[in-house]
Amino acid sequence: MRLQSIIVALFSVLAATACTSSNMKETAPQSAQPTDDSGADATTATDGSGPTWHRDVAPILSTQCARCHYDGGLGPADFTDLDTVRALAPAMVGAMEDRLMPPPASDPGCQDYSGSEHLVMSDEDRERFASWVAADMPEGDPTDAVPAEPVKDTLEDPDLVLMMDNPYLPAFTDPANPGNEYRCFVIDATELGGRNIRAMAPVLGANQMVHHIVLFSVPSSTLTEDMLAPGGWDCIDGQNVGTADGMISAWAPGMLPIEFPEGTGMHFEADHQLVVQMHYFYGGSSTDGTSDQSGYAFHLVPEGEPVTPVLLAPAGNFSFEIPAGAAEYTVEDTFENNYVPLKLLGVFPHMHDLGTWFNARIRHTDGSETCLVDGAYSFDNQMTYQFREPIVFDSGDVLDFSCTWDNSEGTEPVRWGERTNEEMCFFFTFLTL
Ligand code: HEC
Repeated sequence: MRLQSIIVALFSVLAATACTSSNMKETAPQSAQPTDDSGADATTATDGSGPTWHRDVAPILSTQCARCHYDGGLGPADFTDLDTVRALAPAMVGAMEDRLMPPPASDPGCQDYSGSEHLVMSDEDRERFASWVAADMPEGDPTDAVPAEPVKDTLEDPDLVLMMDNPYLPAFTDPANPGNEYRCFVIDATELGGRNIRAMAPVLGANQMVHHIVLFSVPSSTLTEDMLAPGGWDCIDGQNVGTADGMISAWAPGMLPIEFPEGTGMHFEADHQLVVQMHYFYGGSSTDGTSDQSGYAFHLVPEGEPVTPVLLAPAGNFSFEIPAGAAEYTVEDTFENNYVPLKLLGVFPHMHDLGTWFNARIRHTDGSETCLVDGAYSFDNQMTYQFREPIVFDSGDVLDFSCTWDNSEGTEPVRWGERTNEEMCFFFTFLTL
C-alpha cells in the first residue's frame, strides 16, 4: 500500500531501524462525537455594569475574528472598528450562534496549540457579545481598553524569502467550484536546497483572496513544461504533485508560523523545488482585477549545525467508501509505532468538501490517552495544529484517527481520490526523534 511505503521511507530516514508494517484496519461506521455545547451553561456578567466595547467586546473580536476580518483580510469588513461592528452586529450574532464563525477548528480543550486562544470561541464570549448587542452596544470608557495580542502570522527577520515568479490573476471559472480556484506554482528553491528549515510562514500577496496554501517539495526532475508555465496550473489537492509524498507545510489564515524546536530542523533536498498550491477565494467585487503574488519565508538552521530531522509523515486511510445518502459516516484507523520513540510536533488534518469532523489521539502503552486534534472540519479553514509542547509517541503507542463525512446529498458512494468530488482522510504529522 502506498501510504505504508511512504511511512516506512520516512521512518527509515528518522532512524535506521527495521520497519514492520503499519496496522491498518477499517471499522464499520461509527457515530462521531461532535460535542454540541449549545446546551452548556454559560456565565453572564453579573457585576451590574454590562459589557462595553472597549473593555469587553473589542478584545473578544480581536482575538476571535480580526485574524480574518480586518481591512484587506480574507473576511469582509474590519471588526476592530466600532461603527462597522454596530452596523453588522445582527449578522455577527447570527454567525456566532450558528457556529459558522469563527470557522470550525480543533477544540483547544483537546490539546494546547500555539495560538489556541484564536481558534475556538467560548460560550461566555458568545453570550457577552450578544448581551452587548442587546444592550444597544455601549462604547464605554476608552481608558478601559485592553490591548489585544495580534495574531503574528508572518515570520520576523527571515533568512530566505522565495516568491512566485509572476503575479497571477485568478479567473474563478470552474463551474464545479464557483468562487474558488486551486492553482499551483513552481517556486525556484535552489537557495533552499541542502538546508534545514527551522521555521516557515507564507508571505501573502492578496490577503483577501488566499483561503489556504499547501507547500510541497518536488524533485526538479519531475517538473513538466506545463508546471513551469508562468501562470501555473490548475490543481486541486496538489494534483500532479503527489499529494502525500512531498508535502512540507499547510497554512490557513490566522495560523502562526510553523516553528520547530531548537536542535531540530526539516531538511530540504538539494535537487528539489517548491510548489505552492494556492486556494483562491472570490472575496467580492472589491477584489476584481486583483492579482496575487505570494511566497514563503524561512528561518534556516545555520550551515554545519547538526539537527535532529523533522519530517511530515502522513497517516491516512485509502479504503473507505462513504455510502450515498449517509449523513454521518466515520472511518477509523490506527497506526502503531513499531519503531523508535518519537515526538509529535503538530498535525494537519485533511479531507475534502464532505468532511465534517476529525479526531486523532495517541493510545499509550500504559493505557493513558493523549488527544491530538478533535473538531469540526472546514475545507476552507485547514490548519496545521502545532502543539505547544511536543507529544511523546513512544514505541508501542498507537495513533488512533478518524474522519467523518456527510454524504447525505450524494447519490453515489464516495471513495478516496484527489478530485473535489472524491474524498481523503489524512493526518499529516510533524515528527522528530
Ligand atoms: C479564518 C478566517 C475567519 C475568521 C477567524 C472569522 N471569519 Fe467571518 N468570514 C470569513 C470569510 C472568508 C467570510 C466570507 C464568506 C464565507 O466564507 O462565509 C466570512 C463571513 C462572515 C460573515 C458574513 C458576512 C456576509 O457577507 O454575510 C459574518 C457575519 C462573519 N464572517 C462574522 C465573523 C465573526 C463574528 C467572527 C469572529 C467571532 C468571524 N467572522 C471570524 C472568515 C473568517
